Amino acid sequence: MVPAARSAAGLINTTGDWPMKPTASTLEYQRFDPASCGFPRPFAPLLPAFRWSALSLGGGDAPDPALFEGPGVRHFSRGRYALHEAYRSAGVGPAGALLAPAYHCRTMMDPALALGGAVRFYDIGSDLTPDLDSIRALLAAPGVAARALVLPHYFGVEQPAALVDQLAALCAAHGMALVEDCSHAWQLAARRAPAARTQAGRAVVASPYKFFACEDGGVLWSAAVPSSPPASSGMLDELRALKRAWERSRLARQAGPPLPLPQAGRLEFGTVVAESGALPSPLYERACEQQASLGLSRWVMRRTRLTPLIRRRREHYQQWNAAVAGLRGARALFPELAPDCVPYMFPLEINMPNPSFFLLKQAGLPIWRWDDMAVSGSEVAARYRTHLLHLPCHQDLTREQMRWMTSLVAEVLA
Ligand SMILES: Cc1ncc(COP(=O)(O)O)c(C=O)c1O
Repeated sequence: MVPAARSAAGLINTTGDWPMKPTASTLEYQRFDPASCGFPRPFAPLLPAFRWSALSLGGGDAPDPALFEGPGVRHFSRGRYALHEAYRSAGVGPAGALLAPAYHCRTMMDPALALGGAVRFYDIGSDLTPDLDSIRALLAAPGVAARALVLPHYFGVEQPAALVDQLAALCAAHGMALVEDCSHAWQLAARRAPAARTQAGRAVVASPYKFFACEDGGVLWSAAVPSSPPASSGMLDELRALKRAWERSRLARQAGPPLPLPQAGRLEFGTVVAESGALPSPLYERACEQQASLGLSRWVMRRTRLTPLIRRRREHYQQWNAAVAGLRGARALFPELAPDCVPYMFPLEINMPNPSFFLLKQAGLPIWRWDDMAVSGSEVAARYRTHLLHLPCHQDLTREQMRWMTSLVAEVLA
């Protein structure tokens, strides 16, 4: 990293890959750096935490075992490494670009950058659907041909079927693979996987640890999956993961007194860093590209009872919906929950990140926000980078945690 240069507006400029010259893969980023904020540890878990009662040890009500084995399925330690394999087999690399949505997290693009591929961003609507005209414009532009398009089903909400069909036809016409990113949508991945296992040019990727209470996991279903399985974890790694699962499970249920709301005038707003580079982010480890998920994780996935998990996620989502209805400072991005949707998180658009986001974080609310993002020219992505909060609705939140989180949000965003 080069020494940072601070502008009068508090924006810091650095160059990630300095002193390399910009290449076709070089991207510009805006990254929120919370270091000076001193945010406390979240007061409730962002992801599911292990409970024996979530398991079906007799096997009933668990996912279909065929999802996990046989031709066309491969297990990785995270979804990002499953994406790496999907992009690689589609031809993403120095001679093949990736088309990715303007609203994204770094781990969706990291695998393409690791392959030496350029990433081009297509625009999205305010409902996060892909803009087909912007995709057509990218395909018509000069430069390296695109070899894959990644389409996320954000927050577990399925992209409209007609749009997916149109995209699939567009991809087929241009010799591009359509990679459906179901990292937020395990149940949708389960529905899509059988077709992806046999159809050329299609791939489905999931992140099981966002859905089940397991320590890691990334799954790729694709006809192009090579037969050699990634390396398995050793016994020591399995034991460490068991300890971590136990620790996370203990912390998830620990409830101390909630933190008081800080005074708005005393908040520290952190820094926005402008950087550029062509390398993957620190969240991506090349050494993990061939690493399989833990045996422990696969054991949990295969045995988790789906009915209560799905019911609780949907109930929690609706609790959020009810809590934010009528708030002046925020609105639910997807207030309708389709009957077959199993949500990953509750997306909430806020009007004024300063101070609302900072007040909520200082009060210990568990929040994710994609505030480290490539600059693409999309107004929607630029707004959602700071205004869209991802709030947990998973199955392992307790009634008290849900009550505390929803009333805190209602108070701050009234
Ligand atoms: C939409 C999306 N795709 C891909 C990923 C990468 O998944 P993983 O964390 O399993 O590597 C994430 C991570 O949060 C994600 O949100």
